[in-house]
Amino acid sequence: MGRLQGKVAIVTGGAQGMGAATARVMAAEGARVVVADVADDQGRSVASDIGEAARYKRLDVTSEGDWREVVSATVRELGTVDILVNNAGIQYFAGVEDVESDRIATILAVNVMGPMLGVKAVAPVMRDAGSGVVVNISSVDGLRGVNGLSAYVASKWAIRGITKAQALELGPTIRVCSVHPGGVDTRLGNPAGETGADLERHYHNVPLRRIGLPDEIARVTAFVASDEASYMTGAELAVDGGWASGIYHAGLPGAPV
Ligand SMILES: NC(=O)c1ccc[n+]([C@@H]2O[C@H](COP(=O)([O-])OP(=O)(O)OC[C@H]3O[C@@H](n4cnc5c(N)ncnc54)[C@H](O)[C@@H]3O)[C@@H](O)[C@H]2O)c1
Repeated sequence: MGRLQGKVAIVTGGAQGMGAATARVMAAEGARVVVADVADDQGRSVASDIGEAARYKRLDVTSEGDWREVVSATVRELGTVDILVNNAGIQYFAGVEDVESDRIATILAVNVMGPMLGVKAVAPVMRDAGSGVVVNISSVDGLRGVNGLSAYVASKWAIRGITKAQALELGPTIRVCSVHPGGVDTRLGNPAGETGADLERHYHNVPLRRIGLPDEIARVTAFVASDEASYMTGAELAVDGGWASGIYHAGLPGAPV
């Protein structure tokens, strides 16, 4: 029996990358999954690849109306919502002196407001059902600073904090945790589609010395969503190859050569 047997999950940003991997892993663990995204063709194709256990629904995470529709359609068609994975996210590279206000607003709308509206929409259903789990996908950049990504960093630190506020408010019925991926080989994490040494050179300072694979994050998300993690809420899990552990000082013992 799969660790998510009989559960119903909504995965946002499920049309590609980590969201698609999460939908696949959750279905393989026995869940019925709603792949939710704005990329309709890709989302439909992920759902049809998975088969009967999955269906696609259009959801712009910034739209409260879309959330209401997707959650009520999920309850109507599948009976309930046991798991919400707030995975949809976007990135924006700009120096702190060059950031544009409309781009900051868009990042915060998708990466912060989206997950908050999602929890607002699913919490009443989960409370009525007597249980539920929310997994908010933050980032290693929600655990430390990084240059060139201040708006993204703001959004991912926000998710880390909001997770704890949600855990406090929604316990004991609903568990809420954040997962913090490091670099992951998706369109967002590897936009140039690099491979081999070209790709791995960016991970010279990461203890595991390589980029992560979408499945490696998806499996942790599935574990957090499962009853095996039943005493875990408000927790933050780094799944980052050790990137958030600290920095190497060249010349001191243990630094990469
Ligand atoms: N890839 C990485 O290196 C990495 C590292 C840390 C955290 N993350 C986080 O993981 C999550 C998934 O990232 P990914 O690498 O799979 O990205 P990706 O770009 O491959 O996929 C993101 C998905 O989100 C969807 N999306 C964008 N805006 C949306 C909206 N308004 N409503 C609904 N869906 C929307 C896109 O259509 C796309 O399918 C994001 O929150 C990202 O910030 C990624």
